[in-house]
Amino acid sequence: MQDVATFPTKSAAPPASRAECAALDAADPLAAIRDEFVLPEGVVYFDGNSLGALPRRTMAGVTRMIEQEWGQGLIRSWNGVDWYPMPHTIGERVAPLIGAAAGQTVICDSVSVNLFKILISALRMRPGRTVLVSELDIFPTDLYIAEGVGRLVPGSGRRLIGQDGPDLESVLGPDTAAVLLSHVDYRTGRLHDMAAITEQVHRHGALMIWDLCHSVGAMPIELDACGVDFAVGCTYKYLNGGPGSPAFLYAASRHQDSIDQPLLGWSGHADPFALEPGYTPVPGVGRFLAGTPPMLSFAGLLAALEVFEGIDLHQVRAKSLALAELVIARGDELGLDLATPREAGRRGSHVTFRHEHGYQIVQALIERGIIGDFRAPDHMRFGLTPLYTGFCEVWDAMDAMAEILASQSWRDERFGRHGIVT
Ligand SMILES: Cc1ncc(COP(=O)(O)O)c(C=O)c1O
Repeated sequence: MQDVATFPTKSAAPPASRAECAALDAADPLAAIRDEFVLPEGVVYFDGNSLGALPRRTMAGVTRMIEQEWGQGLIRSWNGVDWYPMPHTIGERVAPLIGAAAGQTVICDSVSVNLFKILISALRMRPGRTVLVSELDIFPTDLYIAEGVGRLVPGSGRRLIGQDGPDLESVLGPDTAAVLLSHVDYRTGRLHDMAAITEQVHRHGALMIWDLCHSVGAMPIELDACGVDFAVGCTYKYLNGGPGSPAFLYAASRHQDSIDQPLLGWSGHADPFALEPGYTPVPGVGRFLAGTPPMLSFAGLLAALEVFEGIDLHQVRAKSLALAELVIARGDELGLDLATPREAGRRGSHVTFRHEHGYQIVQALIERGIIGDFRAPDHMRFGLTPLYTGFCEVWDAMDAMAEILASQSWRDERFGRHGIVT
């Protein structure tokens, strides 16, 4: 994995002035990619780890599908412009971003639904083993789905690691069916060592499932090389697929033909248009499909993934780490409480500070056009998206943070009002 020293100068020290930031922006090999995105004037966007920005080509791609493929082609487009195989064809565009050889990645449903299919499959693949291991800090939907699976499968249970709870090694045993972890923690940005943990889990005979929502598109990922069994991830964060764009699901080739997933829908049938009353799964990863794919969302996702063509994820990673070094250094100057690991190799692409009044401070920043977000109980998150975030923007945003903290302008009553979505 590359580190901060490789971007784009030999110096490991973060820039110490706006002029140094400008020099880094000028030398940025990814700078031209920013033009691929619609970014409102006066906005610094630090929330690409929650909802990625709009790629310009998305508008053309979605319009083409609406006007031509749907408007003119009508139902003929399922065959005529190859709508039907899109869960696979778009899956193959995600595959290089996650280190997956062909035939292992499909686009379908949400991360939550895909986790349900995978967790039940995993329990069935390890008969006699009843325990699913996960972590207390994982995104709650992962825990809720595991809880739901536990209620459905008699005798199965959940064991959680992390925070002040036990560590992974102490909970793994002959009863462990599978382990589900988040590659990058959604709150703190902590990055797990995928290779080492997958190997550790396999040593205990269990299956390894990774949630890649906060890492895909922000760094190189090597699922095949790490021997991972299953993975899921969002496409609306760093992949910029658009609000609610469907998730991806990875299932290693070696497992596919023995997988018995629980949502037996017609899209996963071997011959869906035979319209037989009984279910026969299609060979391969396609058996994870259930219902009709949302084609308008697929059009947006397809266009967004074109942006990644020819992009070197090592370069993305190096810039992400360098941007984070700058945020951390300026946060230190302001005395902020860093929740993200300092070690570059242990963090993803967002930086989080804890502050008792984090919600109000984030609202005050948003009012100035600096859009980060807040995660309960006290985490201020700054997502760094190397495809469209520059060093000067980070510098200016941290200046604004300094002013807001010094003036305590966040105390204004209007910054305390809560919307449903934080
Ligand atoms: C780590 C992680 N997992 C899962 C999800 C939920 O995904 P979905 O809404 O597609 O089920 C999120 C959403 O932000 C997430 O951050």
